[in-house]
Amino acid sequence: MVPCYQNAQQASKLQNKKTTVVCSFEMTAEGSKLWGGRFVGATDPVMERFNASVAYDQRMWDADLRGSKAYVKALHQAELLSADEMDRILQGLDQISEEWSKGAFVLKDGDEDIHTANERRLKELIGPAAGKLHTGRSRNDQVVTDMRLWLRDAIATLTDAAVLLISAMVERAAAEINVLFPGYTHMQRAQPIRWSHWILSHAVALRRDVERLQEIKKRVNVLPLGSGAIAGTPFAIDRELLRKELCFDEVSLNSMDATAQRDFVAEFLFWASLCATHLSKMAEDLLLYSTKEFSFVTLADAYSTGSSLMPQKKNADSLELIRSKAGRIFGRCTGFIMTLKGLPSCYNKDLQEDKEAMFDCYDSILAVLQVTAGVVSTLKINADAMEAALSPDMLATDLAYYLVRKGVAFRDAHALAGKVVFTAESKNVPLNQLTAEDLKVISPLFGGDVASVWDYASSVEQYAAAGGTAESSVRAQVQHLRAWMTQHKVQT
Ligand code: ARG
Repeated sequence: MVPCYQNAQQASKLQNKKTTVVCSFEMTAEGSKLWGGRFVGATDPVMERFNASVAYDQRMWDADLRGSKAYVKALHQAELLSADEMDRILQGLDQISEEWSKGAFVLKDGDEDIHTANERRLKELIGPAAGKLHTGRSRNDQVVTDMRLWLRDAIATLTDAAVLLISAMVERAAAEINVLFPGYTHMQRAQPIRWSHWILSHAVALRRDVERLQEIKKRVNVLPLGSGAIAGTPFAIDRELLRKELCFDEVSLNSMDATAQRDFVAEFLFWASLCATHLSKMAEDLLLYSTKEFSFVTLADAYSTGSSLMPQKKNADSLELIRSKAGRIFGRCTGFIMTLKGLPSCYNKDLQEDKEAMFDCYDSILAVLQVTAGVVSTLKINADAMEAALSPDMLATDLAYYLVRKGVAFRDAHALAGKVVFTAESKNVPLNQLTAEDLKVISPLFGGDVASVWDYASSVEQYAAAGGTAESSVRAQVQHLRAWMTQHKVQT
């Protein structure tokens, strides 16, 4: 293809190379393009590459063909195609589908995007009748139809992956319910908790992610086809027929909105950002717990890597990558919203940026969900190290509650327990090594029964209100999540 410029010098300068300049009405390179009719000059190859999206939007080949198959039926019903033409187009589309699924579809120069490629191939296969397929349709309603179909399937896959991960977490929590370890706030030892309580704290966030994704699906599953380029369709296209054929829940209300809004993509990108953020936070905890200093967990070899220099190293690369993907996904989200901001009404080519963001976030978050499920279901815990990390100072709150149960106002009890902590620190002994006299000096209410406070297992059992870390409460959380998963038809 030969570029054509009005100003040859400018063209050579732009391309930074010697350019052959041809301006001729004979030059028909663009005439073969979908939109080539009004063009006499060829596209600069650099622009050709810049403009093309087929390298990545070919992922939507199936959605594109499904959309076309439905559309051809609507065209026939609107008497814009004969039954014979419809049949030939449908057969051609089926053959293209087979070529794609066998990996035999051959892209050609000039295949700008998946829509162009499929239509070009259809013409090769069935001849001029292919030219009727696009009647009243624009790539503006076509591309967004494809994206919605693709994303709908992607949401189903992500939902299954997230529910599987939740299931791995819930079953682990049920199996290891008796393991206690330190809970941290501000990364300082706070209170003893069940390991299962920690696991479930991340599972419930993930459950909200699954629910949020189903919410988004409602807004994704809306049919734009039949909106044309901007104004709608002037033909008797039965959009309800299209909706039913393609299993959309609704028909879009406004053709300008349908062709140009990408809030459904932005919502998905935000969803992925939030879900990745949840898993990144969990990965950060596990990274810490897997250090020699903590030694609470050991990752399976399957999710670890070694060092090329230090033979002893076993690195938790899986967790680090899970953590890093959150940044990447959020970058895609903010990047795309920046693209949307300030766009004038209706379709603009800027919107082509939507696909790489959507695909990349999908690939990243799916991998994150799958790898997290692998890590969680294969890691080993070191229950002894976890329990050994508990220390009596973590029971200072319980000491205050002991006084509360003897009638002391909480604020006063807090101050008295604080004095106990201070005394222990001054004497350089653990809290539970203070003598009865030491305690009596601080409050006469401390009796012999204070010894019962220094027991981690009974400490956690106090937290039996719904949502707490007592065994009954954690079991209730497990039950709740299991019932929720049954609703989502996932076997545990
Ligand atoms: N490849 C284009 C995209 O992804 C398809 C729509 C092109 N529409 C147009 N009016 N040029 O957005």
